[in-house]
Amino acid sequence: MKTKQFKLGPMDNFSYLVWDEETLDAAVIDPAWQPEKLAAFLKAEGLKLRAVLLTHAHPDHVNAVNFFTSGDPELPVHLHEADHFMLETAPKTLKPAVNGEKIEAGALKLLVLHTPGHTPGSVCYQAGDAVFTGDTLFIGECGRVDLPGSSPEALYDSFVKLAGLPDGAVVFPGHSYNGDTSTFGVQKEYNLYLKLARQGRRADFLKAVS
Ligand SMILES: [Fe+2]
Repeated sequence: MKTKQFKLGPMDNFSYLVWDEETLDAAVIDPAWQPEKLAAFLKAEGLKLRAVLLTHAHPDHVNAVNFFTSGDPELPVHLHEADHFMLETAPKTLKPAVNGEKIEAGALKLLVLHTPGHTPGSVCYQAGDAVFTGDTLFIGECGRVDLPGSSPEALYDSFVKLAGLPDGAVVFPGHSYNGDTSTFGVQKEYNLYLKLARQGRRADFLKAVS
């Protein structure tokens, strides 16, 4: 499996392409802002786009979904059901992203980890060593929990879950805030929020995010 990170738009968002090297089946994660750059890469590499996967429904992560669904009306768009209400226009091919289930995009398989907190339907997608963390976990930071639908308590539980991922797993966040990528091993040491969650320090975590 291969991964390509694209920093796009005015808010340092990341979109990702993930693909299977043998079949060239590909998925796009959080397409936004400059989809033509993603499309150019897909074309240059001969990749076949099989699915759109959304980490959550904030506009800065989804504003180019229509670019891809208008070109392929059958293209499935996965988003956790708890975030469906946030979409201004829901794609006809909108599908759920269910915790613990694997989404199949051709030969590609991505495991859904429901990680509410930033939004009720925030998820991370895990494929091989890569974990796409959206606005739940950034390098050295956590997502905002002062927005409508946010929950600091839910984010704590989500961070406890993420703290259980292997040290060698690679963090691919939804924005380039303090860095572009890291490992969970490094983040468990240096990310205050992941560290507190790993140590079971719920009260300190809730204080730190407030
Ligand atoms: Fe967000």
